[in-house]
Amino acid sequence: MNECLRQLVETFGPSGHEHRVRALIADLVGGHVDELRTDAMGNLVALKRGDGTGQRLMLAAHMDEIGLMASYIDEKGFVRVQPIGGVSPWLEVGGRVQFQNGSLGVVSHDKLGHGEAVPPMEKLFIDVGAASRQDCPVGLGDVACFVQPMVQVGGLLTAKAMDDRVGCAVLIETLRRLAATPHDCYVVFSAQEEVGTRGAVTAAYGVAPDVGLAVDVTLAGDVPEPAVRMATALGAGPAIKVKDGGMIATPWVKDWMIDVAQAEGLPWQLEVLPGGTTDARAIQTSRDGVPAGCLSIPCRYVHSPSETVSPADLGHAVDLLVAMLRRPLPR
Ligand code: CO
Ligand code: ZN
Repeated sequence: MNECLRQLVETFGPSGHEHRVRALIADLVGGHVDELRTDAMGNLVALKRGDGTGQRLMLAAHMDEIGLMASYIDEKGFVRVQPIGGVSPWLEVGGRVQFQNGSLGVVSHDKLGHGEAVPPMEKLFIDVGAASRQDCPVGLGDVACFVQPMVQVGGLLTAKAMDDRVGCAVLIETLRRLAATPHDCYVVFSAQEEVGTRGAVTAAYGVAPDVGLAVDVTLAGDVPEPAVRMATALGAGPAIKVKDGGMIATPWVKDWMIDVAQAEGLPWQLEVLPGGTTDARAIQTSRDGVPAGCLSIPCRYVHSPSETVSPADLGHAVDLLVAMLRRPLPR
C-alpha cells in the first residue's frame, strides 16, 4: 500500500482539478470493481456489487487537496494568490509549489506590518522566476499545490496531501482485498471536499445509500503542545469518529465500527474533534437523512506540506473496513 500511497500523494490535485488523481485511482481499482464512472462534479464512483442479501453502502474519501489560485500577476511577474480550502499562510511560506502546467514556484511574503506575526493571505506571493508579467508562465485562475516527495521519518510517513489520499489508499486497498460482500458498495473518490464537501453532496444524492462512511484524516493530539487537546495518537489504530465540527456520528454506525474492531482484535481509538468536518456530514444530511459515520486516520501537521501518519493505522483501517463489509449490517 505504501507504493500506492506514494503515487497518490505525489500527484497534483487541488480542489476542482482532481483529474490526475482520478485517472490514477481508476487505473488502480479498475480490475477490482463491477462499475466505474465519473460524474459531473468530477467524483469517481466505483461499484463493487454485493450478493443481493445486503444493503446499499456509500464509502467516501476525497481526492482533492488544498492549494492556491493565481489571482493577480504583478508587473515584475510575481503571482498573488487566493486560497483553495483551509490554507494557513504561515504554513505556505518557504514552501515550493507546482502549477498544473508544471511551473514551479517558491512561496514568500511582503514585509510584515508592525505587530504582524503571521502574513495575511494578501501578503503572500509566488516567485515563479519570471522577469515580468509578460514573461510569467502562470495565468489568472491557474492553480498550484505543494510539491513534496513522500519520505519515511522514523516509522512514520510524511508527504503533502496525506489529507486525504490516505483515505483513497485505504479504500483502494479495501476494494482489492474485499473478495465478496453482501452489500452493494459504492466507493466514491470525491471531488472538492476541501472547499465544502461539494462532491460528496451530489454523490450522496446520486447514490442514495442506506448507510454512509467517510475515510479521512483527523488531528493527532500526541505532539508536545497540541493546538487542540485530543486523545488521538499515531499508531494507536484508526480513530472512530464520535463528532466533529459538522457532524455527530450516527450512534449505531459508530458502534458498528467499534464492535467489529473488538471482534477482530484490531486496535482502535475514539475521535472527538472540535472543528472541521468530512464527507460523512454531506452523506448524513443528504435527502431525508442517512445514517453515517467516519473512520479517521490520525495525522500530524494537517494542511502543511508535511502531513504525517503512521502506516500501521492505514493497515488497520483496511483490516477493519474489510471485516465490516464482509458481514451483514447490525441493522
Ligand atoms: Co483537509
Ligand atoms: Zn480531508
